[in-house]
Amino acid sequence: MSNIYDRGVVILDFGSQYTQLIARRVRELNVYSFILPPETSMDKILSLNPGALILSGGPSSIYDQNAPDFDQKILDIDLPTLGICYGLHLLIHYSGGKVSSKGTGEYGFANINIFETENLFKGIKSPGVWMSHGDQVTKVPKGWDVLAESSNGVIAAMMNKSRSLVATQFHPEVHHTKDGLKMLENFLLKIADCQPNWTAGNFINEQIEKIRNFVGDGSVLTGVSGGVDSTVVAALLHKAVGNRSHAVIIDHGLMRKNEVSECVDALSDGLGVNIHAYDESKIFLSKLKGVLDPEKKRKIIGNQFIYSFDRIALSLGKIEFLAQGTLYPDKIESGVSKGNTSHVIKSHHNVGGLPENMEFKLVEPLDKLFKDEVRKVGRELGLPSKLINRHPFPGPGLGVRIIGEITQERINILQKADRIYMDILLEDNIYDKIWQAFSVLIPVKTVGVMGDQRTYENLLAIRAVNSTDGMTADWFDMPSETLSKISRRIVNSVRGINRVVYDITSKPPGTIEWE
Ligand code: XMP
Repeated sequence: MSNIYDRGVVILDFGSQYTQLIARRVRELNVYSFILPPETSMDKILSLNPGALILSGGPSSIYDQNAPDFDQKILDIDLPTLGICYGLHLLIHYSGGKVSSKGTGEYGFANINIFETENLFKGIKSPGVWMSHGDQVTKVPKGWDVLAESSNGVIAAMMNKSRSLVATQFHPEVHHTKDGLKMLENFLLKIADCQPNWTAGNFINEQIEKIRNFVGDGSVLTGVSGGVDSTVVAALLHKAVGNRSHAVIIDHGLMRKNEVSECVDALSDGLGVNIHAYDESKIFLSKLKGVLDPEKKRKIIGNQFIYSFDRIALSLGKIEFLAQGTLYPDKIESGVSKGNTSHVIKSHHNVGGLPENMEFKLVEPLDKLFKDEVRKVGRELGLPSKLINRHPFPGPGLGVRIIGEITQERINILQKADRIYMDILLEDNIYDKIWQAFSVLIPVKTVGVMGDQRTYENLLAIRAVNSTDGMTADWFDMPSETLSKISRRIVNSVRGINRVVYDITSKPPGTIEWE
């Protein structure tokens, strides 16, 4: 099997807010991409056998003190390179051109005049691009051609054809640059000679081989939370080592309705995965009795999760390896793109943190993937789309969606109402347009009337937000017909709720969860 990382793209990160987006867009074209810090030596870059190099944008001016720089050997070797914005400034500066901060810069949408419809602009239809720069090129270096200019007269794209160096003042990776993906494709596959072999199928084959080599005859414990990442890990481990992967799902009693059984069924009946659910709900509920404070609730759930996991792991006998669903963005945040490739057990594990005293060797088969790629791998492994497209769900589960004390009765009410809410979003084809939707039970009683009867029941809030990573979020503009359908069906069929409200708070200033 050919190496799927060969002839991919190394991206040097000069601090752009779009660096991860560049990596994702490159991978959409089935070319592997990998983010490294700007000071990475050329020897290290070449050892990865890349097919091309991309220099990202960044907030600095090349004339700033401490502006990030790169190993200038890049200009002496024959590696096709695309410089974007700050990356363009560096390439042009070191090639003998001039970059200056005359004018006011260009920010936002701009039209460009294309002078050459070959190379970068082959097959490009839209002249609309996304600009975000202060500095600009004022002298074209020897050997470089101007390929396009913005309607403001700023050089928008340049190329040194003999060296396959391309530079854009605009951002082809941003969706607002309508034909940006096509431009990246032209660079990667026509100007450079990258290999488009980064596919879900190839990834799975490569990981199976890698896991088998790493694990040998050993056994693996796979913690499953019901979410997509850990479910995909469990399916992958099963393919690699069969029943020597012990998938464990701890039911803390605070999952969505039928979530545990749906996950177990999909994995065990559907794919033959060796998975067991452990019902720990009574212990969790007894520890949470009488607790109202959100932070205390979170702590109790997190700690009990560790005790339960520890006990269950020990009961399974000697297991040397632990598989978990760490993703590439987690690795980037923990310093891998800054040159630190050491393995660390992550504290932000999605089922609430793992025992610190456990000495496992880690298997992290998704640590080179973005979330959308995990979904592709899951589909390829045969997991049902209902599971793959599920919205994110917090580790403490419904524990942070019941305001105040958690009781079994409140859990039952919330599970029932939330299921109706999700069913209607699916019925109205809205579920996949939302990043995360859920209900919150507010045990505050208000008066209502049903038939001739006065009611005095709880309040339910429903929330739906769009986001890319959960750090910021916008409330979703839900059609009013859907809102009234949700309210009617919940109030008519869930005893214990007589009023539904829709949360119209974005993050910031709100958070996504209520507790
Ligand atoms: P907030 O409420 O902080 O949520 O705006 C941002 C995203 O994180 C999820 N979330 C959690 N996920 N353990 C998790 O695994 C947690 O303790 C936790 N708290 C919040 C939340 O659902 C949203 O997607």
